[in-house]
Amino acid sequence: MTAVPLESFCADLERLRGDAEAAFQSVADAAALEAFRVEFLGARSGRLKAIQKSLGGLEVADKPAGGRYFNDAKNAITACLEAAQARLAEAAGGVETGSIDVTLPGTLVPLGHVHPLTRTIRRVQEIMGRLGFESVDGPEVEDQWHNFEALAISAEHPARDPLDNFYLAVARGADPLLLRSQTSTVQIRVMENREPPLRIVSLGRVYRPDTADATHYPMFHQVEGLLVEPGTTMSHLKSVLRLFASSFLGGDVRVRFRPSFFPFTEPSVEVDMEWGGRWVEMGGAGMIDPAVLEAVGYDPDAISGFAFGLGVERIAARRYGVDDIRDFYRNDVRFLRQF
Ligand code: DAH
Repeated sequence: MTAVPLESFCADLERLRGDAEAAFQSVADAAALEAFRVEFLGARSGRLKAIQKSLGGLEVADKPAGGRYFNDAKNAITACLEAAQARLAEAAGGVETGSIDVTLPGTLVPLGHVHPLTRTIRRVQEIMGRLGFESVDGPEVEDQWHNFEALAISAEHPARDPLDNFYLAVARGADPLLLRSQTSTVQIRVMENREPPLRIVSLGRVYRPDTADATHYPMFHQVEGLLVEPGTTMSHLKSVLRLFASSFLGGDVRVRFRPSFFPFTEPSVEVDMEWGGRWVEMGGAGMIDPAVLEAVGYDPDAISGFAFGLGVERIAARRYGVDDIRDFYRNDVRFLRQF
């Protein structure tokens, strides 16, 4: 048998590709789409399949190039099919009124995907899970004890100002409940109910009456991390954050601590991560303050731990190159489709 020349193999592919592009572009209904799918991409007697068979007839030396050509053409034709599917699905809009002919071939429903923030949350949970941190939830409606007092945020602290919180008209005892302003509440809830050693993360919504702009929104998400084990130090904290950042972003991400203050940690730091050559502030962290350990009934002389809180929107915005966090909540499919 004489070998098939590479040129004619490629020319056949080009012709097929041209025919397929024209066909899928002109297609006007689901039945025609299905007919063209079978004609071009059918697994048994499709035209692409026929060319694939002749791949075996190429000279051995031509096979790698032929294979590449074939894959390119296949991808291009598949993309044409998908574009036609998407176009028809869009044109179909909603369900037509009147009778439905159930014998007609169905139109493919374009598959969506999870929201970029949900994807970020799941990925954080997965990475932290590998480091031994269990993912737990806490309530979004909180009391003063869990949102402030047990975290050593005293009654006079400005963080408790009614202008900075969504207090509810509902009270438990003398204290009004509120929409939690931070996920640090979950640290308290977990420590109150369990004994060390503990490694948990909690990801969820928090609420503050901020005016919406490119970096603020009245509702956003935080990652809270907590580790309580004898002998815990700041270097453990930094290692965990660095491992997390490196896994999340890929590559070797540097983490920097700057001195700061939070009522519930001592010492406290701001956490920066180096992202694409730029240092970005990601949140706060520190060693759990002895007052907090006492508030939950632990002995501060016997146990220590660290905590950190990072902004999910910040992480997602950096990861996906989004410069206005409001885009995450608009649910404009043109934005969401990009991820
Ligand atoms: N809860 C803090 C906030 O919302 C963030 C934070 C700082 C959490 C330090 C922590 C921490 O666990 O240790 O601004």
